[in-house]
Amino acid sequence: MTDGCDSAPGGGLKGDVWDVACGSIEANLVRYVCDYGKCFALYVKPTYKLTRLLGVFKMPPKRLLSHYKIDTQRNRLLVVSCNAEDMLLPRSNFTFYEYDSNFKLLQRKEFNISDHLMIHDWAFTDTHYILFANRIKLDIAGSMTAVCGLSPMISALSVNPSKPTCPIYLLPRFSDERTENWDWRVPVDAPSQLWLMHISNAFQERDGNGNSEIRIHASTCSYQWFDFQKMFGYNWQSGKLDPSFMNLEEDDKDLLPRLVQVSINLDASGNCQKCSVEPINKWSKPSDFPVINPAFSGTKNKYTYAATSSGSRRALPHFPFDTLVKLNASSNSIRTWSVGSRRFIGEPIFVPKGDEEDDGYILVVEYSVSIQRCYLVILNARRIGEAGALVARLEVPKHLNFPLGFHGFWTTHK
Ligand SMILES: [Fe+2]
Repeated sequence: MTDGCDSAPGGGLKGDVWDVACGSIEANLVRYVCDYGKCFALYVKPTYKLTRLLGVFKMPPKRLLSHYKIDTQRNRLLVVSCNAEDMLLPRSNFTFYEYDSNFKLLQRKEFNISDHLMIHDWAFTDTHYILFANRIKLDIAGSMTAVCGLSPMISALSVNPSKPTCPIYLLPRFSDERTENWDWRVPVDAPSQLWLMHISNAFQERDGNGNSEIRIHASTCSYQWFDFQKMFGYNWQSGKLDPSFMNLEEDDKDLLPRLVQVSINLDASGNCQKCSVEPINKWSKPSDFPVINPAFSGTKNKYTYAATSSGSRRALPHFPFDTLVKLNASSNSIRTWSVGSRRFIGEPIFVPKGDEEDDGYILVVEYSVSIQRCYLVILNARRIGEAGALVARLEVPKHLNFPLGFHGFWTTHK
């Protein structure tokens, strides 16, 4: 991301389908895959902290969270850092930075929260930074093995399920008369215990009396299921991937990551009147990696895309994901596109083309288990669930294969 410029030849997403498939996409393919790899490294290191305990003291004092945000309305890059030592302490320091398109720092705001938290993703609106408090505690036995260098740093931590709710911190993004009386140290309590995975968008709507509603679209899972040491089935001791951890019996599948809408009603003074949680469009299948058209970030959006499961496999029915779902919050419609047998997908990425919210392409990496090859799949976002949704499937060069990817991003060549 901070590399900034695209050195790949070719234009942005202009022209017809084959311009896209053969020109821009291909020219950006290596960059996409490389960025995927880079983001995976960022994903693992700052948030799950697969480092030895001694590493804590060698870390830079502030570490960037892997998830950044683009405020398209203000044309700003938003990032947040945490203090390295906070992973061991019952306090959490977060510093938010806002940059313009030339990477000039426009704003820096710091907050200290008196709780032991692990934040992986976050959100912003016109007025707030939003943090879901994933609560953690020291694991005494794990700390001992980490101190001895026998296990990764992550084994020193475990989830802290002592609260039946999910604290959500609404931090004032700007200092003005509307925010000067807010006590941001008091979190909003969502009525159920949620471990936040990823957020696709948050936005705020106001009525004529100054009351407002914040809506957050996210993937969350249960504290009962989340396990630092087993995420995505990766076993750090054997170095192998066993996706069975990501699969549960039918009665327990609601513990797995799924898509939710969190709605928070605030009065004119910023006090919470109500907070509710419900599945987005009642879509209850295990899902993660929700994304939207980035041009709509921070504003009311209609479409959410996510990786999900068809549930059609007898073995490993919930993960790896084999389906892309498109949810329309306006009509409550649900559209899906699925890969073939023994093929899986990673995180979808939306590439805008025109001004309409779903005018664009979905990029997703498909992995074929039987031949151990990756494909970069390009879908027409408007036609998900219809004939002709598949625009192109490009074979990834063998030396760039990766079986399960996580995050990536798209930049146009400007
Ligand atoms: Fe992530």
